[in-house]
Amino acid sequence: MLRRTAKVFETFEVYGGWQPSCYGMFIEQKHICNTTLIILASPPRAGTGRVDKEEPVKIIAVYHFKGGVGKTATAVNLAYLAAQSGARTLICDLDPQGSASFYFRVKAEFVAGAKGLLKGGGNLEKSLKGTDYQRLDLLPADFSFRNLDRKLDGLDSPKTRLGKVLGSLRDEYEYIILDCPPNITIAAENVFHAADFLLVPIIPTTLAVRSFAQLLLFFKKKRYDHKKIFAFYSMVESRKLLHRESMAFVESRFKRVLHTRIPYAAEIERMGMHRQPVPAFSPNSPAAAAYRSLWEEVEKIIKT
Ligand SMILES: Nc1ncnc2c1ncn2[C@@H]1O[C@H](COP(=O)(O)OP(=O)(O)OP(=O)(O)O)[C@@H](O)[C@H]1O
Ligand SMILES: [Mg+2]
Repeated sequence: MLRRTAKVFETFEVYGGWQPSCYGMFIEQKHICNTTLIILASPPRAGTGRVDKEEPVKIIAVYHFKGGVGKTATAVNLAYLAAQSGARTLICDLDPQGSASFYFRVKAEFVAGAKGLLKGGGNLEKSLKGTDYQRLDLLPADFSFRNLDRKLDGLDSPKTRLGKVLGSLRDEYEYIILDCPPNITIAAENVFHAADFLLVPIIPTTLAVRSFAQLLLFFKKKRYDHKKIFAFYSMVESRKLLHRESMAFVESRFKRVLHTRIPYAAEIERMGMHRQPVPAFSPNSPAAAAYRSLWEEVEKIIKT
């Protein structure tokens, strides 16, 4: 089904003399050498075509086991900006709340649910959806993802399954961005194995900083690679002394804190009304500039 004419016009396809019913919009008819060519706009399809690239896919998880810290807002905006930068990008909504799917106007439904996700293969391909934006696909969440841990429990190597499943998409995308639910269960440990980078939003307040310290301790105890972790501040209100003090405290103890600070901003709250990333509906806002700066920093880290 055609969803947006703006993007379909950029992916013309030519068929010699016939019009498959699944392709909608007629653009032009040409006669060349006794052959009738009908030029049609193709509908956006998810997961099509391999990417011509030298670098392996990079998996970026936006993760914290603390809830409501801006993970989904970040994952959605960064995925959009990655795709805008020219990279084929997939956002994978792992949260049964399905918020990232909601923001991209996609129904939170995964073929065969949590079991389908862990099995991968055809379930993955059938679940992939295009978005309203060029080069950006989405793997929707499903409410049954709340059972991921239970499903993982019965599998061999339960902590590396997600990485294996996503590995099957490695030739299709340059970036896979994971929007993670707020927990630190076996499903989260799958994320720790699968991701090349973990972006951790910290609201500069006492409890959020404490949770971040707990996460670092967990990584140390379980011998996960803590160098994957990059923190950044979220919902910052610089006029608040507590925020300024908390940021100084984190930086005195942890080196990989990104420079960009995502401000507390009404535009970010309004993403739910627009159901769009901030740079798409408010490109000149300070919030859009902050996400652009965050993406530039992340890209620089990935490429060095
Ligand atoms: N920088 C910000 N400024 C203002 N509001 C924000 C900001 N970031 C996120 N929000 C709002 O805060 C709420 C929580 O944000 P979000 O859903 O991104 O957090 P989350 O960490 O993904 O939550 P959860 O743990 O439930 O998945 C949402 O209503 C969102 O609109
Ligand atoms: Mg979320």
